[in-house]
Amino acid sequence: MVNILVCYFSKSGTTENMAQELINGIKESDSDVTGELKKVHEVDVQDLKVYDGLILGSPTYYGLPSAEIKKFIDESIVHHGKLEWMVGGAFTSSANPAGGNETALMAILESLLIHGMIIKGMPKGDHYGPVVIGEPDERESKQCRFYGKWMADLTDRVSKWNLKK
Ligand SMILES: Cc1cc2nc3c(=O)[nH]c(=O)nc-3n(C[C@H](O)[C@H](O)[C@H](O)COP(=O)(O)O)c2cc1C
Repeated sequence: MVNILVCYFSKSGTTENMAQELINGIKESDSDVTGELKKVHEVDVQDLKVYDGLILGSPTYYGLPSAEIKKFIDESIVHHGKLEWMVGGAFTSSANPAGGNETALMAILESLLIHGMIIKGMPKGDHYGPVVIGEPDERESKQCRFYGKWMADLTDRVSKWNLKK
């Protein structure tokens, strides 16, 4: 079974709402890929290796992911060198349109790249991963669902390449 973990931190619910839309998108995929939704403190970092994909979501805090997500990333060092070929992605919410949301996304993606994960950008819509500003509007919710579906399709394809030797 090919499985994606959607792991997030959210204080006031916006990032949580995005995570749920990502899961809805994974369910819309034509593949058999499944999505697991977990708050960051519910994830035992030891279990990370069982997933084929990891999508990390955080509110933008001072242009970066929250401390809770950074802590999780730092704890993932127990798997350093062993998460290669996993598919990685990121999503964030922020208060302002140019409030550092893309730098927050890139900070998450940079750490996933260091793990050796496969990261793919999107030529249409939100290029580095979905972003919600303030309350999610229909376009933003659609971006989240699209990203979930698209990540499921990508993870399905990558799993068939049999890269984990
Ligand atoms: C400590 C802190 C720092 C923040 N920094 C930023 C920021 O740099 N740029 C921005 O646009 N919004 C910033 N915000 C607003 C949050 O990113 C925004 O409200 C987000 O949607 C909250 O997500 P949540 O509802 O999932 O908790 C900040 C909020 C807090 C509490």
